[in-house]
Amino acid sequence: MGGAPGGRGRRTKGVAVTVARRRLAATVAALLAATVGVQLSGCTAGAGTGATGPASAASDPTSDASEGVPSPGGAPGTSTTSPAGPSATASDTPALRPASTPVDDRSGKARNTPLTVNGIVVVSAEHPVGSRYTPELASGQPLAKPAARAFTKLQRAVRMAGLRLDVVSGYRSYGAQSALYNSRLASMGRAWTAKYVAKPGTSEHQTGLAVDLRSPSGRGTSFDDTREWRWLRRHAQDYGFVLRYPQGTTKITGIGFEPWHWRYVGVAQATAIRALGADVTIEEYLRLT
Ligand code: DAL
Ligand code: ZN
Repeated sequence: MGGAPGGRGRRTKGVAVTVARRRLAATVAALLAATVGVQLSGCTAGAGTGATGPASAASDPTSDASEGVPSPGGAPGTSTTSPAGPSATASDTPALRPASTPVDDRSGKARNTPLTVNGIVVVSAEHPVGSRYTPELASGQPLAKPAARAFTKLQRAVRMAGLRLDVVSGYRSYGAQSALYNSRLASMGRAWTAKYVAKPGTSEHQTGLAVDLRSPSGRGTSFDDTREWRWLRRHAQDYGFVLRYPQGTTKITGIGFEPWHWRYVGVAQATAIRALGADVTIEEYLRLT
């Protein structure tokens, strides 16, 4: 009554305007998220890594378990099983997955940091990284910081399940990859090495985001016959990891089936990749093929 006519009305209007602005901002954000195409960067981001940091002596390129020396009787990578197609589904989140083929237009110094697509660092024969690139490693661990944190959680869950995973190899510097490649070339020959060991500058071990695993009951090409492997197939994505070189995807990744090699991409991206299929590659997911 009386005093302060319109006062409440003005406050109401102010609230209404604020709400309307917030709604508009939310709508714009949602539209942007829904229509985001390709976020390309030569810099590190999201599940990526820092650009500097000390190299740790965590890798063991001389280990016979490193990069899957075939077990006796093993016939690695001979399957012709096709991966699940990366066709669009309800779980195909546009905000996470590029809508179109990304272009790697890094040149000059930009090639000293890995290609990053929608927060996923990509290092491969098609998308190499410079020799001086080193990630920021977690203290005392052979993995880049975000990967190390996630892997610690994964290890806890594995132990809770009564299982055991051991790390065979994590971060490898360009030099360590080079030594591994040359050593395998000498001992295993060109065809085997091309199938299982990335050339220096093309290994994602250089990013500290990849980890090679074994269990007491199997390693290398026998690792996919272990309870730990079956656990990883069910749960790895919950900790942000995906199988990087699935069976039957050599034509896509350039690498043979590596049941031991798991790659950290973050929980959201790993969940989205896994939702498309157990054997979907990062290349397919990011439309890099
Ligand atoms: N074994 C994988 C391909 C590497 O050497 O990075
Ligand atoms: Zn590996």
